[in-house]
Amino acid sequence: MTTTPTDLETLCADYWSTSIIDIHPGSIKVRGYPIQELIGSVSFPQMIWLMLRGELPGHGEAALLEAALVASVDHGPHAPSIAISRIATSCGLPLNGAMASALNALDDVHGGAGQQAVELYAAIAERIDSGAALEAAVEAGVDAFIVTHGKYLPGFGHRFHPVDPRAGRLLALVDEQVKAGTISGRYAAIARGVEALLRQRKDKPVPMNIDGVTAVIYAELGFAPELARGIFCLARAVGILAHAWEQRGRHERNKGPMPRQIPYAYTGAPERHLDNE
Ligand SMILES: CC(C)(COP(=O)(O)OP(=O)(O)OC[C@H]1O[C@@H](n2cnc3c(N)ncnc32)[C@H](O)[C@@H]1OP(=O)(O)O)[C@@H](O)C(=O)NCCC(=O)NCCS
Repeated sequence: MTTTPTDLETLCADYWSTSIIDIHPGSIKVRGYPIQELIGSVSFPQMIWLMLRGELPGHGEAALLEAALVASVDHGPHAPSIAISRIATSCGLPLNGAMASALNALDDVHGGAGQQAVELYAAIAERIDSGAALEAAVEAGVDAFIVTHGKYLPGFGHRFHPVDPRAGRLLALVDEQVKAGTISGRYAAIARGVEALLRQRKDKPVPMNIDGVTAVIYAELGFAPELARGIFCLARAVGILAHAWEQRGRHERNKGPMPRQIPYAYTGAPERHLDNE
């Protein structure tokens, strides 16, 4: 059977098929909306939602997403992602290279824990759906998580803050939207249950951190776990860019992780010599 030019065109069109954007000469439609109608009418968080979910969010949903984005932009030069951005810039990388290097550090332990936290909350929610009471579901879900992933629960604890100042404010906004009927509040209850269980089990409090609380928001808003990490990366990219830009203005070259006057501890063999006959 011969392949006609039309077959080939269809093949190529299907190869790059997308439901996100439709572009023709003089026309750009995002999820069906002409771009000129979106410009000036929707906020950036609404645009993120439209791109990822296909529909525009309600005002309460957009407000919560925006709050999560605002809370996540920066955590200072000691945050590995921000430090990497500054170090990379001082080594001569352009802004895009510095941003890419920094974003790569946002994995399970730093910044990316939101994905695992949404998964943990969802696993607990499944137990509740199967008839378990909240406390029992939290305990069983946490224990199952520890067996597979180890003792650190994603979204809880912080190296720096005894209490993460972002968590309380974001949870208050979540509670407001529960009252307004925007979201159900079930993931907020689950996360608070996990926090209470950790308080019971540990000598020191291990409170909800930014990843844990934004995971509540993403789960309440119906985002898939992987998108929790992706959206965090979008937000943190703002801080990463700001720090790369500030660093660019400093004209420092080859910035290491510490001022060079500060030594590190050498733990290897004492000085020794090759046996030369
Ligand atoms: C962020 C983190 C690395 C900080 O750890 P830290 O403050 O240095 O805590 P330590 O490793 O010294 O642990 C101290 C105690 O608190 C417990 N702890 C700390 N974070 C915990 C967590 N997330 N879940 C359960 N226990 C935790 C430890 O088990 C340890 O208790 P133990 O002595 O009984 O074993 C850690 O809390 C963590 O890995 N959290 C999960 C990942 C995460 O959410 N990252 C995003 C951070 S914004």
